[in-house]
Formats: sequence, structure tokens, C-alpha cells
Amino acid sequence: MEITDITVAPPKRGEVLVRMRASGVCGSDRHVLDGEWSVPHPTVMGHEGAGVIEQVGDGVEGVQVGDHVVLVWNQECRRCVNCLSGKPWACTELRSNECVMPDGTTRLAIDGDAAYPYIAVGSMSEVAVVPASAAIVVPPELPFDVAALLGCSVHTGLGAVVNSARVTAGESAVVVGCGGVGLSIVMGLRLAGASPIIAIDRNPEKLELALAAGATHAVLADDSTPQRVEDLTGGGADVAFEAIGNPHTIAALPSQVRPGGRIVFVGMPPEDTPIPFDVLDLCYRGITAIACNYGNGVPARDFPRYAQLYLAGRLPVDTLISRHITLDQVNEAFAAMRAGSDARNVILF
Ligand SMILES: NC(=O)c1ccc[n+]([C@@H]2O[C@H](COP(=O)([O-])OP(=O)(O)OC[C@H]3O[C@@H](n4cnc5c(N)ncnc54)[C@H](O)[C@@H]3O)[C@@H](O)[C@H]2O)c1
Ligand SMILES: [Zn+2]
Ligand SMILES: [Zn+2]
Repeated sequence: MEITDITVAPPKRGEVLVRMRASGVCGSDRHVLDGEWSVPHPTVMGHEGAGVIEQVGDGVEGVQVGDHVVLVWNQECRRCVNCLSGKPWACTELRSNECVMPDGTTRLAIDGDAAYPYIAVGSMSEVAVVPASAAIVVPPELPFDVAALLGCSVHTGLGAVVNSARVTAGESAVVVGCGGVGLSIVMGLRLAGASPIIAIDRNPEKLELALAAGATHAVLADDSTPQRVEDLTGGGADVAFEAIGNPHTIAALPSQVRPGGRIVFVGMPPEDTPIPFDVLDLCYRGITAIACNYGNGVPARDFPRYAQLYLAGRLPVDTLISRHITLDQVNEAFAAMRAGSDARNVILF
């Protein structure tokens, strides 16, 4: 990443300009920087952000200047059949995945040419312009670093548990990969009453964090991992989540669950990377495979809920935050992520 000046046009009809206060550094940004996913260039990175509304365009209702907001990266249309069915994560009119506004343009430019906010957020910038519906108001007492993480890792991780897998109290669970997303899954599992909650990572530092976030057992990823999981669950977990995006750990998910179990794909692999599964085995054992997009959640419903849980002391999002950094330290944060150290680093503006 290079730090440079960008020009930001004022918000158009139905849009808001947000003065960013915090942005998380997420594994999805790394996929882009490492060339694993293609996006239009030049790109203003960051998609896990929170800030304060500074300007509103014409026709904006429901939010106002001064509101504290968390930004949404899956910017649903709220009109298609999936949005109307309560499934905004499957919106058929989505443009944010192309890094543009609903009208196909952006409000950002570098030297007169369009610049593209990553998944239409671009939170690693002092200001962002988004559709008003992608700025979800949260209580002003919520700290901005925590608020930022609600916008991706927390919404994804808790949603994976509550919406995608619908975990119920007493179910056993495995979480493979304990970065910001995996740790959020662990927090969700604790809230849902899962037991045991087995956290797996190749970095012992992450396992300590997983235990702090609510895991009951921590297992270092090595050759003996499958046996440990089998022993701890008595033959396989009810549900297993992959939160790395590694084709090998994704392919190994079915071996972690019992007959009738569920496997949940949360980590996203590099593009054009098909992963083979033994479907006959999945059929015989009655395994359900679930793909999680943005926690299969509803941001306008869920962000305020998660904010309330944090403020009530029931969702220890601070556990995820390794360091607060300035924008010029962002490349060091990605280096730490590639090395597997640090959970979430959060840029404060
Ligand atoms: N499904 C969604 O909607 C959604 C949303 C957000 C992020 N994601 C994806 O989730 C994944 C994780 O994101 P993150 O921000 O937590 O990333 P991260 O890099 O912070 O965390 C990855 C973790 O996996 C561990 N790890 C890496 N390789 C391992 C291995 N072979 N065995 C065991 N542990 C290993 C690392 O030590 C690290 O703790 C990414 O692929 C990201 O794109 C998906
Ligand atoms: Zn993310
Ligand atoms: Zn839609």
C-alpha cells in the first residue's frame, strides 16, 4: 500500500460522507494486496470501518450529521427478492463487490482519474462516501476501534454461528484459524452456549487469545490435530468452521465433524481455486455444507445488537485488538498478518 492524496467528491443523492475514525486490517484486504483476488485499480483499501457522518446528500433519511456509524461492505439494494426475503447477503443487484456505488461510479479520484474504494467502503482513508443505507448508526458511547470491527469480523463471525450454522446450546464446535474472524466465531459460540469450543491455529499466541475469547480447548495445528479433535468431541464435532481461506484446511473440514454434522466455509480462498470434496462420503455421513457470506446477517439489525452486547460486557471485542496503529504503519500490520502474528490491528485516524 502506498499513502497518497485522493480527491473526494461530495455525497450525491442518498449518500453520506463519513469522517473515518477507525479501520480494521482484515484478511480480505490481504487477499487483494497479495494478488489472490482481483479488484479495479487504483484501490483505496479497507472495508471494516467506523466514523462520524459529516455530510448528507439530498433525500437522505434516517441518519444525520454527527451520527456515529459502522460501514457495511455488502451494500444491499433492499428491493430485490433476496433483500425482501431478509437475505441481503445474497442481494442480486449488488454493485459493492465491484467497488462502485449503486450507480456504477465512485466519489474518489487520484489525479483526475477514478479510484475505487475496496468493496465500496475504502475505510483506510480519512473520509469515505457510501450509500446512506450502508452507514449503520451505533451508540456514541461505543469506542470507534470496537465499532470498526463490528463492520466485518464481528458481523461475519457471530453471524456464522447464529445465522449460518444456527448453533444451539450444548453443541460441540471446532474453529480452524483464530485471526479476527475466527476469534469472532469463538465469541459467538460462547454466546450460543456451544461446548466444547475447540480452537485450532498454528500460532500459540492466537490460541491464548482464543481461550480469552471463550474457547474451552486450544489445539496447535499439527499432524495430531485430527486425533485431538476426535478425542475431545467423542468422534467429531457437531459443527466445524474454517476461518483461514486455506484450500487444505477447507478440504479437511469434513474430517472434523460427526455423521450429521455441519461444515461452515467462512475463510475465502484465492480466486479460481476449486477445492475437491468426497461427496459420496458427505452423502453417506449426512454432512451439511454451508457457505457463509458476511455472516448471512442483516447489518441494520445486527450491528446495533452487537454494539449492545459489547456495551453490556457480553462480547469482549477488545480481545481481538492487538495494536492501535497509524495509517503509515499499515504495511507493517499486513506483514504481521502474513506471519500469522497479531489478531486485529486497528488504524486510528
Ligand atoms: N465469509 C465472509 O463473509 C468473510 C468475511 C470476512 C473475512 N473472511 C475471510 O476470513 C479469512 C480469515 O480472515 P482474518 O481477518 O481472520 O485473517 P487472519 O489472517 O487475521 O487470520 C488467519 C488465522 O489463521 C491462522 N492460520 C493460517 N494458516 C494456518 C494453518 N495452515 N493452520 C492453522 N492456522 C492457520 C493464522 O495464524 C491466523 O491466526 C480470510 O480468508 C478472509 O478473507 C470471510
Ligand atoms: Zn473483512
Ligand atoms: Zn437486493
